[in-house]
Amino acid sequence: MAEFALPKNSKIQKGRHFPAPGAEQPRTFKIYRWNPDDGLNPRVDTYEVDMASCGPMVLDALIKIKNEIDPTLTFRRSCREGICGSCAMNIDGTNMLACTKAIEDCGKAEVPIYPLPHMAVVKDLVPDMTHFYAQYASIKPWLRTQSPTPSDRERLQSPEDRKKLDGLYECILCACCSTSCPSYWWNGDRYLGPAVLLQAYRWIVDSRDEDTGARLDDLEDPFKLYRCHTIMNCARTCPKGLNPAQAIGEIKKLMLARRA
Ligand code: SF4
Ligand code: SF4
Ligand code: FES
Repeated sequence: MAEFALPKNSKIQKGRHFPAPGAEQPRTFKIYRWNPDDGLNPRVDTYEVDMASCGPMVLDALIKIKNEIDPTLTFRRSCREGICGSCAMNIDGTNMLACTKAIEDCGKAEVPIYPLPHMAVVKDLVPDMTHFYAQYASIKPWLRTQSPTPSDRERLQSPEDRKKLDGLYECILCACCSTSCPSYWWNGDRYLGPAVLLQAYRWIVDSRDEDTGARLDDLEDPFKLYRCHTIMNCARTCPKGLNPAQAIGEIKKLMLARRA
């Protein structure tokens, strides 16, 4: 029988409150916390941060909280400039990169910060990306060729062909799009989701790749590709301004074209 309520051990409890007495410009963050080692339910902790001594981005606030208020807070980050994709999380109700989301652009007075939706949680704001990366590996995201490698130069590409990769190569695999996609929420075990399909199209459309037929064969499956119902959350969410739904549409067109 379908279960519509959260299991008891997933219900979010009231968390701790860390006030900032004497703060010149206080801003409140409500942050999801869960520790697999303490046996307790998840909770939402409330942190007040003085913006007078904090950088402008949500990641700055998280680092300040970890350094000065609560060292147990756990999150991923690396580049702090929107390149590595590791700080993706749900901020103020939207999947985003914490390092490129300005605190002043958060609309809610108390900024809610949760891990990416519908992913298993490793700890606090860290989602388990194992399945997502396995799906990425499944599309064999590298140049596949049959012809011998030229002995005296790289495999070349015309400027026009190179242009076809624009809007695709910029993907940083942050998973903001896939974890905002309702089809991926419900069928993520078999549906590849927008991020991985955009990556699949990036290799399909690469003029240097010589395995296009096999790549399309691999996607010809009722679940891997065809669970996209053009809901467009992916394009609305992508922090790099990419359009995975369009890439998925292009793959579907190629599928149709080769049937004709
Ligand atoms: S357009 Fe397709 S991939 Fe994008 S959110 Fe909708 S169903 Fe998901
Ligand atoms: S398409 Fe955009 S949202 Fe999706 S993984 Fe790539 S960069 Fe992230
Ligand atoms: S820390 Fe690398 S994208 Fe945010």
